[in-house]
Formats: sequence, structure tokens, C-alpha cells
Amino acid sequence: MSQDKKIIAAEKAIEYVKNDMKIGLGTGSTADEFTKILSKKIIEGLDVICVPTSKKTEKLAIELSIPLSTLSELGSLDLTVDGTDEVDSNLSLIKGGGGALLREKIIAYNSKSLIIIADDSKKVKKLGDFKLPIEISKFEHSTINDKILLKLEEIGYFGESFIRKLNSKNFITDGGNLIYDFSIGSIEEPYMVNQIVNSIPGVIENGLFVDMADVVILGKKGDIEVIKR
Ligand code: 5RP
Repeated sequence: MSQDKKIIAAEKAIEYVKNDMKIGLGTGSTADEFTKILSKKIIEGLDVICVPTSKKTEKLAIELSIPLSTLSELGSLDLTVDGTDEVDSNLSLIKGGGGALLREKIIAYNSKSLIIIADDSKKVKKLGDFKLPIEISKFEHSTINDKILLKLEEIGYFGESFIRKLNSKNFITDGGNLIYDFSIGSIEEPYMVNQIVNSIPGVIENGLFVDMADVVILGKKGDIEVIKR
């Protein structure tokens, strides 16, 4: 059922794709649906070139024979289509559930437009039920984590964090870094939290995407909701 909603959202996002576009391909189960639909359009004659936001998406795109390039070769992109873990009414996001937040943010930042696709369960009043992923340098990571908790406490956010594990080993990102997931309650000021966290040495990037999404497409049961900035 939730997969159907993801497909409905991905199908709507395809309407934004035009010939000759340079497109960022997101990461996750919803973004994968978009990538699959896009590959069918390419077979039918659509001419686009894409930049993947993770090694996982790159693998899928290669399997589907989608032409790939890099940001440095293409310059800015026309459009990126990606998923999200949470979206609020201001179109602020928490991303990084799949661990690709750094590359996703780089690609989104270098795209003229960011379209987010998700099932309607991702829409929230306030961000923060989903733990905020923060990508951290391996070097002295526990000290960096402590410093993040301290700095968050100074601005009124109290909570705890957990190093992300995969198969009982530390999860390693495509960039070779670690992720800590922060449970800090409702995030009332995503802009400030984003700024404070990213100012701490050793923090590579965090999962708050503020002022980045232009359009959010939510797949619902047999329906769709499109929210524009
Ligand atoms: C990966 C992400 C994903 O977009 C996010 O986790 C949503 O994934 P899904 O579509 O599988 O629910 O940010 O880093």
C-alpha cells in the first residue's frame, strides 16, 4: 500500500521532466520508483542526463542504462527528485534515513529545482519524531557527538544520540564517514539547528534540508497532494 503511494508520487514527478534536462537522482525506496519510471521514458526516447546521490542509486541507474555524469562535468542541474523522512508545512525536511544525506544535499543545492516525493505518512506538523541523522568524521567521533549534544542543549534541545549500525557494525557512508542519529524532540527552529550543528568541527553535514525543496508531492490512497513553495 505504501509502495503504491510512492509510485503515485513518482509518476507525478515525471511530469516535471523535460527533454535535455540534467537531473539529480535521489536515494531511497521512493526515489528508486522515480528512477525506474525515468528509465522507461528514456527507452521511449526522452533525452536526459543524470547525477546519482549515492552509490546505491548509481548501481540502479547503471542497471537501468540511465546515462550518468557528475556535477563537475555538468555544472548545475535542472532538477533533482528525491525522497524524505519527514516534511513540515514550510517544506523543511529531515533526510538521511538511507544514509545518503551528504551527497543528497550537495546535489540538491546544485539543482535549480528540488522535487520531493513521498507517501503521505512523511508529512508532519513539526520535524523531529524521526531522529535527525548527522554525518560525522570518524576521527574523534565520540567527542564530536558530545559537542553536538552540548551545543543543542545550549539552544534548548535536550536528548540523546546513537551511532548508526548496520549488521552490528558502524554504518559507513559513501563518503567514508559515520552517522549518529539524534533524538532531540520537536525541532521548532530547523534553520537555527541546521546552522548550529554544521558549525561544529567534525560535523560533515546534517539531515535538515531547510529552504531547499520547491515542490513536495505526497502520494495518498488513490490521490495526490502537491505542495509548492
Ligand atoms: C536517504 C533519504 C531518503 O530519501 C529517505 O530516507 C526516504 O527514503 P524512503 O523513500 O525509502 O522512505 O534521505 O538518505
